[in-house]
Amino acid sequence: SRSIYLTRHGESEYNVEERLGGDPDLTEKGKRFAVKLAQYIHEEFTGQGKELPLIWTSQLRRSRHTVQFIPTHNVCWRALNEINAGVCEGKTLEEVKQQYPKLYEARLKDKLHFRYPGGESYVDVIQRLEPVMLEVERMREPILIVSHNAVIRAIYGFLIGKRQDECPNLEVPLHVVIKLTPRAYGCEETRIELNV
Ligand code: F6P
Repeated sequence: SRSIYLTRHGESEYNVEERLGGDPDLTEKGKRFAVKLAQYIHEEFTGQGKELPLIWTSQLRRSRHTVQFIPTHNVCWRALNEINAGVCEGKTLEEVKQQYPKLYEARLKDKLHFRYPGGESYVDVIQRLEPVMLEVERMREPILIVSHNAVIRAIYGFLIGKRQDECPNLEVPLHVVIKLTPRAYGCEETRIELNV
C-alpha cells in the first residue's frame, strides 16, 4: 500500500545558532539535503516508473526551499508551520533559561501542555494538524511531508500510534526521511539517512 514520507527541512541558519522558530534560510548543508532529497525521491518514484508523490510543506522558507529541486508542484499548509514559540521565537535555549527561568522549568515539567506566552503548546499543534491528518487518511497516493521538529513529531506519533504525551520527545533528526507504510497491524517504518 501507499507510503507516507516524513522529513524535517534541511539545516537552517537558526539550527546552527540553536535558535527557536523564525523564518531563516537553509545553510549550504541544508541546500545539499534539498538536492539529496530530490535524488532520493527520483530513485524511489520516477526511477521505478511511478508518479511523484504529493508534496506538502509548511509556509516557511526552510521547508519550501527543501523541496525546490523536486520537479513537481507542492502544497503549502499553514497548519504545517513549526510550533509558535511566542515570546521565545528567535531565542536560544540559553537565552530562554536566562530571561524566562520559570517558563523554562514549566516547559520541562509538562512539555505537552506547556503553552509559550503568545504562542502554542504541543496540544495546540496536534489540534491544528487534525485537518492535515484527515487529508492524509483520505488520499490514496503517497505523500511526502516536509515540515518541522514539533510538527513532524506530532504527525509521526499519530501515525505510529504513540500517546500524545510521548510525542514532544520523539527522536526526529534532521536529514532523515521516515518512510511509513501501513500494514494490517501498525506501520512498517524505514529511516533513510541522507548524509550531507
Ligand atoms: O530547534 C528547532 C525547532 O524546530 C524550533 O524551531 C522549535 O521551537 C523546536 O525545534 C521544537 O522542539 P522542542 O519542542 O523540543 O523545543
